[in-house]
Amino acid sequence: MNPIQSSEDSREAKRAAGIIAYFRRLHGRDGDYGEALPYRLTASGAWAASRPEHLFNFFKRVDLSRFRLFIDLGSGDGVASCTAGLFTRSVGIESDPFLASRAARAARDLNLLSRVGFIRADFLTQRIQAADCLYIYPDKPIDALEKTLEGWDGTLFIYGPHFPPKRLSLMEKLRRGRETLSVYT
Ligand SMILES: C[S@@+](CC[C@H](N)C(=O)[O-])C[C@H]1O[C@@H](n2cnc3c(N)ncnc32)[C@H](O)[C@@H]1O
Repeated sequence: MNPIQSSEDSREAKRAAGIIAYFRRLHGRDGDYGEALPYRLTASGAWAASRPEHLFNFFKRVDLSRFRLFIDLGSGDGVASCTAGLFTRSVGIESDPFLASRAARAARDLNLLSRVGFIRADFLTQRIQAADCLYIYPDKPIDALEKTLEGWDGTLFIYGPHFPPKRLSLMEKLRRGRETLSVYT
């Protein structure tokens, strides 16, 4: 085994464990969001959080580090953007002010500010085509997003099975426990 590679792997695993523990604490019964599951209605829809341990596993399996820029469309409290920041430069876009500020706080707490940033906005108004890799855990059908992405040649990751796209082609579906990550081009 290459000793340099193995010490890099263990550094990455340690940083991942820190991010997973941070969000599991926030999302847990004794976390900041109270007794309920992390869930909240927002002006643009509904927030529910991706599971950080599954995200890390999925991002490793798709080798997220081959992408230049990851954008999470509707980034909630920042769990996916922060996890992606272990692999590449990452931006989260979220319209809800409370969640956007929680996400910025998470990036600060986790010392990820050099690679992870957040924008409070409607992602449909932003230049999301600049990313070569987009992620969404959709809270509603994604027809408007698909229209915005016409002619874009990047990769779209969709967490969960509820709102599959109508026009994009499915390349791969990853499963872990009850969670799925679908890869579209
Ligand atoms: C199911 S949550 C996913 C949160 C986060 N991506 C994650 O994986 O944990 C969907 C989020 O998208 C946000 N959202 C929905 N439509 C949006 C839009 N057009 N612009 C910005 N945020 C949006 C909602 O406010 C909500 O926080």
